[in-house]
Amino acid sequence: MKDAGPQAIHLSDYAPPPWLVETVHLTFRLDPQSTRVLSRIRFRRNPAVPGDHDLWLDGEKLTLTRAAIDGQPLDLVPESTGLRVPAALLPADGFEWTAEVSIAPAENTTLMGLYMSKGMYCTQCEAEGFRKITYYPDRPDVMARFHVRIEGDLPVLLSNGNPAGSGDGWAEWEDPWPKPSYLFALVAGDLVAHSGSFTTASGRDVALNIWVRPGDETKCAYALDSLIRSMRWDEEVYGREYDLDVFNIVAVDDFNMGAMENKGLNIFNSRYVLASPETATDQDYENIERIIAHEYFHNWTGNRITCRDWFQLCLKEGLTVYRDQQFSGDMRSHAVKRIEDVLTLRTRQFREDGGPLAHNVRPESYVEINNFYTATVYEKGAEVIGMLRRLVGADAYDAALRLYFERHDGQACTIEDWIAVFEDATHRDLSQFKRWYTQAGTPRLRVSEDWDDGTLTLTFRQWVPPTPGQPLKEAMPIPVALGLLAPDGTEVQPTVVLELTDPEQSFRFEGLAERPVPSILRGFSAPVILERDQSVEERAFLLAHDTDPFNRWEAGRSLARDVLADMATNGSEPPQLFFDGLRSLLGDRTLDPAFVALALRLPSEEAIAEHLHGQGHTPDPAAIHTARRRLSLLRAQDLAADLGCRYHEMMVPGPYSPDAGPAGRRALRNAALAALSQLDGGARAAEQFYGADNMTEQLAALSALLEIGAGETELAAFHDRWKGDRLVMDKWFSLQAMLAPPDRAASVARTLAGHPAFDWKNPNRFRALIGGLAANAAGFHDPSGDCYRFVADWLLRLDPLNPQMAARMSTAFETWGRYDGGRQTLIRQELSRIEATEGLSRDLREMVMRMLG
Ligand code: ARG
Ligand code: ZN
Repeated sequence: MKDAGPQAIHLSDYAPPPWLVETVHLTFRLDPQSTRVLSRIRFRRNPAVPGDHDLWLDGEKLTLTRAAIDGQPLDLVPESTGLRVPAALLPADGFEWTAEVSIAPAENTTLMGLYMSKGMYCTQCEAEGFRKITYYPDRPDVMARFHVRIEGDLPVLLSNGNPAGSGDGWAEWEDPWPKPSYLFALVAGDLVAHSGSFTTASGRDVALNIWVRPGDETKCAYALDSLIRSMRWDEEVYGREYDLDVFNIVAVDDFNMGAMENKGLNIFNSRYVLASPETATDQDYENIERIIAHEYFHNWTGNRITCRDWFQLCLKEGLTVYRDQQFSGDMRSHAVKRIEDVLTLRTRQFREDGGPLAHNVRPESYVEINNFYTATVYEKGAEVIGMLRRLVGADAYDAALRLYFERHDGQACTIEDWIAVFEDATHRDLSQFKRWYTQAGTPRLRVSEDWDDGTLTLTFRQWVPPTPGQPLKEAMPIPVALGLLAPDGTEVQPTVVLELTDPEQSFRFEGLAERPVPSILRGFSAPVILERDQSVEERAFLLAHDTDPFNRWEAGRSLARDVLADMATNGSEPPQLFFDGLRSLLGDRTLDPAFVALALRLPSEEAIAEHLHGQGHTPDPAAIHTARRRLSLLRAQDLAADLGCRYHEMMVPGPYSPDAGPAGRRALRNAALAALSQLDGGARAAEQFYGADNMTEQLAALSALLEIGAGETELAAFHDRWKGDRLVMDKWFSLQAMLAPPDRAASVARTLAGHPAFDWKNPNRFRALIGGLAANAAGFHDPSGDCYRFVADWLLRLDPLNPQMAARMSTAFETWGRYDGGRQTLIRQELSRIEATEGLSRDLREMVMRMLG
């Protein structure tokens, strides 16, 4: 990577800590303006680092009132980022550090370290938040046992581990498992629990609590149920048991990310905990299940085995995402889950990988680590694990994971450790495979076919485009799952995995009676862009006959994409075959409705822009918007009868259930509704809106109305009904920003920003509006540049308060390089204006500098 500035930290500079920590005793005297934190820390020399070394303790925005070593007071002058104790003052075989600092949680707007959310104390320490709580070697390779005492006038006082006593105004917690400081957590507040229990395979009884603000306890049942299923699944599939007597989850309204896996005390953004049929959509329920599982799975992949340094983030995140994907697939449908995961990967990660923010799955340098909690680390990190499993096979994967847990339990590890486990378990040389961790960019794979007298030859050529700091690339190992179908639709070659290792490689299939149709990259077996000249007929054939559900969906998807790309660039008309293919899919009652719903979803405007750019065109957001709307209308006209039929058929009677079956039926029904609304002026949608008894149906109806430029009355009704519910109001904001007509997007966004409920300091609300607008492709890229200015203004306003959120939302601009000169200039002007701003945070500065290149 290109050096991102003077303060960049490099993987190659890693040095082990000279001082290790055995035990930490913390006492918190809680107060909004002046919380006192007393620490007593037992240090010992790291035998692996010879020589005399100073002690470096990270610390930021702390007021130090006293410090001592083995009881001897020290007179230290803190630096802005920490404290240095000279080696001369440190007893050779170890010592006890004691200190007292004071902090002001009520003034902490960064939502990192100890902060307050509506009267509740809460922490977020990953990646480097603990240093805002007390002086400490705040790095993941320092693991210690924590004992915590909390004193405060609040009914619920929580920390990591097991309870170790409590009384009026105090509680103590003991965590027996050594952990890095980023897994520390504390919560204090007026909370109530929705409780349950779980007995582990070896008979340990675990108390489970979901802590929420009073009134919300009726919305926790699904989260608890998801937790119990996750605990059982990890025992059954990975042989991993829970290891404490309690497992606490807390929901908090002000939270920068999704959730956090603190040992025994997971803290969640409330949107990923709270759900009732009236307020949460099927998608919300699915997210809750997935994220509860994700954080729980971290107990082994992240907590028991953690990362040596932050460059290794994908070691825990890629693996844990992969595990939560497996879990969701087991709970629901693997085919549908795979399609959804690939959609996410393409929307977020391919976009990142193809722009100025591209970086390795394991980055090699950073300025601000919070900027690397990315789709590349998480989602591509998970794809890399999926490829590894495909290459070595399921049994060898299981054996390698067993070895990983056995060999590295209690350690802080690297990607090298991870790969060595697979090499030792399988006796394979994985040195080329490691390139997936060390080379950025999405590989492109071009396939050509040759048919000659019963032999099909497939030739693959791969190419990895240059990315910032990596102009030249080496060939990637690419597992290509492939099958062959005869013209009558029978499979003549069941799925095989071809292992590409060279820039160009050919594979021959002999003794074939007729020329088959190849189904390539089944299950999306590698995160690459497949380039193939394929006729409309062949795609329609695969859409009708492929035995691999992913590729069946992909055939329709790539057809829709090409049709839209043509319509947007040369105003051509869609081929009838496209509608016919969809008609037979829509009429096939053997298919899972959730699958059909996904097959009906047209590629997003963003996806078409990315595709056109990849084909050497300059995408025109307005033309893409028009083309997509037109295709959607023509499709509705062509399939009106079939859609109407399915709309009625897919009605889900009885009480609401978030399970995959009924959710899939609602997804298909709502897809039909959106299409039909273009023909009936919104009559059905209005009826569904007022008649709905669940949020999935109500929100889909509102969205269908907004898409046809109607729904003013319903928006107002929705507002009045839900103004007291924060999570539902986020939907109200984001939907309007996302679906505003392109030429009115800026004015709609300005009006929303002026609404009294636009609490911009709340990350969910900020994301709803600013993120919603950025997702409105044609609106955001309106040639006036109004939306660019609007978003830049808001980033500048948020940055002094919450740099992490501001930096994250700045990725709205990462695709500037795709567009025409006019838009490029407008976006770069905004980025330069941000860059030139006095006192910009390190977070946002790094992002803007990388985007400007
Ligand atoms: N480890 C958390 C997860 O489950 C994410 C925490 C990210 N926090 C941050 N400040 N960047 O994925
Ligand atoms: Zn995670």
